[in-house]
This record gives sequence, C-alpha cells and structure tokens, in this order.
Amino acid sequence: MISKKMKKDLEKQLNHEFYSAYLYLAMSAYCSNKDFNGAANWFKMQYEEEHMHATKIYNYLIEQGMHVSLKAIAKPPKNFGTILNVFELSLEHEQMMTSRLNNLSDLALKSKDHATYNLLQWFVNEQVEEEASVSEIISKLKLVKEDGYGLLMIDNELATRSTPAAIA
Ligand code: FEO
Repeated sequence: MISKKMKKDLEKQLNHEFYSAYLYLAMSAYCSNKDFNGAANWFKMQYEEEHMHATKIYNYLIEQGMHVSLKAIAKPPKNFGTILNVFELSLEHEQMMTSRLNNLSDLALKSKDHATYNLLQWFVNEQVEEEASVSEIISKLKLVKEDGYGLLMIDNELATRSTPAAIA
C-alpha cells in the first residue's frame, strides 16, 4: 500500500512520461518534415520508450490497488529549430525528468516506501542511459556543424535505432 501523497506524485510522473512520449512524437514529426528521416525514426523510438515508461508506472499503481486518475496531457511545441536544437531540447527535457525522479526517490526513501523506491531506481538508472545517448548525438552534431555529408551520416546512423525491448 502506498500513501495518498505518493499516489498523487506517481500520477504526476505518469503524466510527465506521457508528455515525454508526446513531445518526442512532435519532435519526430518535425524531423520528418525536414527530411531528417533517421532522426525522425530515433524520436519515434523514443516516443515508444516513453510510452512504456508511463505504462510501467501505471501498472505499478494498479498492482498497489490504486484507482488511477489520469490527467490531460499538455500540448507539445510544433517547431524546434535546427536538428541540433531538437536534440539539445531533448537533453534539457531528460535532465528535468531526472531531477523529478530524484525528488520522487527522496520522498520514497523519507517515507520508507521501499517498493516505490525500487521502482524509481529503475527509472533513475534509465535516465543515466538516456542522457548519455542524447549527449553523444549532440557531440556528433556539434562536430559536423552544417556539413551536409556529416549530417547525412549521422541521420543514417539514427535510422538504425530499432523498437525498444518491452519493459517488465
Ligand atoms: Fe521516461 Fe525519458 O523519461
């Protein structure tokens, strides 16, 4: 059994994960429109991953016997600037998600809610991976700057990202 406050906070996080999915779908649409089809694929995979994150929290709340309250999902932006800007915004967003998850972990520890703490540690670890992979793409984009061939190579690499493995 989790506390009322923890339920509310996890529902908020569930909403943030759905917003992340929506944001990445908007980024994918933007990249498609700019003919960066590899980047569009990368963000579409990210969308799927965020959807699974939301589902993981939802499943946990259900397992805890909660009646889940779903909130409206905010509208994401439509335009994101250069391809580098899109990935920089993605990193900024992930850093904000990390900070939220750290705060939630603090709360779980403080209230001795070890089951929720365990769940959140999975997310905290996932954030390390997410931030690292976006940072790597940003470094490559900064390296090639406006060089068309370099951008094409990176876009081809981003096209190879495949559907994320299902999350338990
Ligand atoms: Fe599920 Fe990328 O935060």
